[in-house]
Amino acid sequence: PQQDRAQLSSLLDATTRASRFFQEQLRRSPKAIEYLKQRGLTGEIARQFGIGYAPDDWNALREAFGKDYDSPALLESGLVIQNDAGRRYDRFRDRVMFPIIDQRGHIIGFGGRVIGQGEPKYLNSPETPLFEKGRELYGLFQARQAIRESGMVVVTEGYMDVVALAQYGFGSAVATLGTATTATHIQKLFRQSEKVVFCFDGDKAGRKAATRALENALDQLADDREVRFLFLPAEHDPDSFIRAEGLEAFKRAASDAMPLSEFLLQTLRADLDLSIPEERAKLVHDAKALIPKISAPILQLQTIRLLADDAGMSTDEVSLALGLRPAFKS
Ligand code: CTP
Ligand code: MN
Ligand code: MN
Ligand code: MN
Ligand code: MN
Repeated sequence: PQQDRAQLSSLLDATTRASRFFQEQLRRSPKAIEYLKQRGLTGEIARQFGIGYAPDDWNALREAFGKDYDSPALLESGLVIQNDAGRRYDRFRDRVMFPIIDQRGHIIGFGGRVIGQGEPKYLNSPETPLFEKGRELYGLFQARQAIRESGMVVVTEGYMDVVALAQYGFGSAVATLGTATTATHIQKLFRQSEKVVFCFDGDKAGRKAATRALENALDQLADDREVRFLFLPAEHDPDSFIRAEGLEAFKRAASDAMPLSEFLLQTLRADLDLSIPEERAKLVHDAKALIPKISAPILQLQTIRLLADDAGMSTDEVSLALGLRPAFKS
């Protein structure tokens, strides 16, 4: 454990020094500054999120680290890569850098966006002892105060969604960083707020991400917790939406977001013709995979009632069909 702590602190030292370097380099790069401006960001918001720039150079970090460039920590952090011939080079080159900050304010990794077009669009730090992707929520450190004040947290897909929402005055957003929403994410979110609003991109991938989030949220629910889903128009993500429609429109959309129970029923109903008994049976059959997982007993009952209405059955019949105890014996 002593050694683990030493390793963590040398990793942290590397990411912290690199982040300071990237921020300095941003100040010296008109091209990167122009890119951020064109995306609607001010210097103030860039500072708030510690946004930087990794120069177009194979060994730029040598300037920041000197002889420490050859230290194991830089390799372990993924900031530097070593090829088969033993030569070392910077992972991030000519990219806008988003530091990923944990809840204690420590920089644990980076996402780097290509300026303009290019592949991959985002390059991320690899997982390290500091950085475990399925646990971290980008922007949570900066958002905590706003989450507390607004009583909700909005979960988006990407770095730019979080930063753009903050730029437009919506500070209580975080992002899952290109991974599916995990149960760990949801536990973390509920520790910050009783109300979680998922707002993924309006495209097919975003829709799929919402379904995954729904499935992973069911057993994290409680009757004093609320999960909602904000579906954006197909051409939008939160960043483009708030730029096109403004803060008030986004706030309205967030407070009108679809309750989890409704999204669940909508998901189950998709492609079914409920005028046909067989398809009403399939509706209830498919619900077995979801409704019993709801860990909020009263909400579970409410959802059963919605399902019963769609299925043309009584709530007790539906409960039995789901393998659940009939709720209230009357
Ligand atoms: N992502 C990634 N690697 C990629 C593409 C995406 O890690 N090659 C992750 C990033 O965290 C990104 C998120 O998935 O922010 C959402 O991806 P996407 O919607 O494609 O990107 P945007 O955040 O909308 O990026 P931008 O607005 O800068 O184009
Ligand atoms: Mn997308
Ligand atoms: Mn997007
Ligand atoms: Mn985007
Ligand atoms: Mn089946």
